[in-house]
Amino acid sequence: MSAEPTSFERDVKPLFREGDRDAMSWAFDLWSHDDVSEHADAILGAVENGSMPCDGRWEAERIQTFRRWLEGGKAT
Ligand code: HEM
Repeated sequence: MSAEPTSFERDVKPLFREGDRDAMSWAFDLWSHDDVSEHADAILGAVENGSMPCDGRWEAERIQTFRRWLEGGKAT
């Protein structure tokens, strides 16, 4: 059996803190599947290059979870 596909609601949304959502609400809603899907490449780029979040970069494992979700087809 293959593993469950990475899910936005279960795996990706919990990566974003309430403060991340508030800080970024001018650009997109980090708790919205549709918004994060639309901006997924920019979001991946920002967490990979360490520019976002502004207060400390993500562990590699978190970045992998986001990348798997994106490359797996952005399931809800
Ligand atoms: C994981 C959490 C976060 C993600 C994925 C994220 C993602 C992004 C992305 C993709 C942009 C470029 C948006 C655009 O130009 O359309 C951006 C810009 C920005 N973000 Fe965040 N952000 C996060 C958390 C935060 C936090 C915690 C702050 C702190 C206040 C912050 C402050 C800003 C600011 C000031 C900009 C505009 C200037 C810049 O690009 O550096 N973000 N962010």
